[in-house]
Amino acid sequence: MTGSRLLGTGSALPRRIVTNAELAERVDTSDEWIVERTGIRQRHIAEPDETTATLATAAARAALADAGVDASSIGLIVLATATPDNTFPATATKVQAALGCRGGIAFDVAAVCSGFLYALATADSLLRTGMAKRALVIGAETFSRILDWEDRTTCVLFGDGAGAVVLEAPGADAGGSDAPGILGTRLHADGAHHDLLYVDGGPSTTQTVGHVRMRGPEVFRHAVVNLAGVLKEVLEEAGISSNEIDWVVPHQANARILDATAKKLGISPEKVVVTVDRHANTSAASVPLALDTARRDGRIKPGDLVMLEAMGGGFTWGASLIRM
Ligand code: ACO
Repeated sequence: MTGSRLLGTGSALPRRIVTNAELAERVDTSDEWIVERTGIRQRHIAEPDETTATLATAAARAALADAGVDASSIGLIVLATATPDNTFPATATKVQAALGCRGGIAFDVAAVCSGFLYALATADSLLRTGMAKRALVIGAETFSRILDWEDRTTCVLFGDGAGAVVLEAPGADAGGSDAPGILGTRLHADGAHHDLLYVDGGPSTTQTVGHVRMRGPEVFRHAVVNLAGVLKEVLEEAGISSNEIDWVVPHQANARILDATAKKLGISPEKVVVTVDRHANTSAASVPLALDTARRDGRIKPGDLVMLEAMGGGFTWGASLIRM
């Protein structure tokens, strides 16, 4: 039996675009190096009046409009972020208030770049148990606020943004793998690699927000192996072969990771949705942002089989297969 159905998607990006050339004026880098090593050409960076909650709310409104449902019908909001507006309360509750949703459940999940996959699996599980009928699942970040703008090895890689989906609990008549809905999901974590990708601050340690620290080449190697592994697991769980996939919507960290993972699985690069060139790495926002982009430009259509996948700090990683 299929899981929750995806009714609509939405996304939001900060107004300001920062090009590689602009960054090269601040740190010792070049457009050529960034494009060749990452595929990134530009990123959106939040202005002071734009926060994780305002971006998340805009993305949620767009998803509700796309689904044609009212905010009052949402009984669950799960928001993935590593850059909440406040240490508490959860940014999801700010979105809930901004949308005018009354009652229901709202909370954040922290799994960094794979946060959207964790949020989607959590929402799907809660919907299946009857805790709510309809959910908003959001990935939203203002990573620019935790970057060390003097560290060229990290500051060129990230951007800000938000993406959201509306999910509905499966009906009693939910069908097999041809019916719309989530067909399979797998999540993983391995805390042994903390020092390869982390933020060097936090309420309980330094009482500061801290900055992103990453040993890029090591993360890269783990990403390709872990992602290829979890994609295989999800395909096996759903009883689907990789050549049946219409689209892969990966976490947008680096164009070379996307290519290497697709190659490992024998998936054609034309089936991989790429937005890293325009958005850079928006952490938990990147998968729903890319999904919304490919639905709105007409690539992903109803009935398509779509694989979402991500890997991030922790390490955490996961994948989810959805019939649109
Ligand atoms: N501009 C110019 N030169 C640079 C820059 C820069 N912005 N950054 C690093 N360099 C230099 C380095 O200092 C190094 O110089 P050296 O050879 O003189 O020592 C050289 O470029 C090569 O550096 P590497 O780090 O080996 O470059 P690499 O090809 O590995 O690319 C990158 C680095 C882009 C970070 C890559 O390793 C990567 O994408 N890693 C994975 C990141 C990722 O997947 N993150 C996902 C999760 S993110 C999250 O969860 C928050």
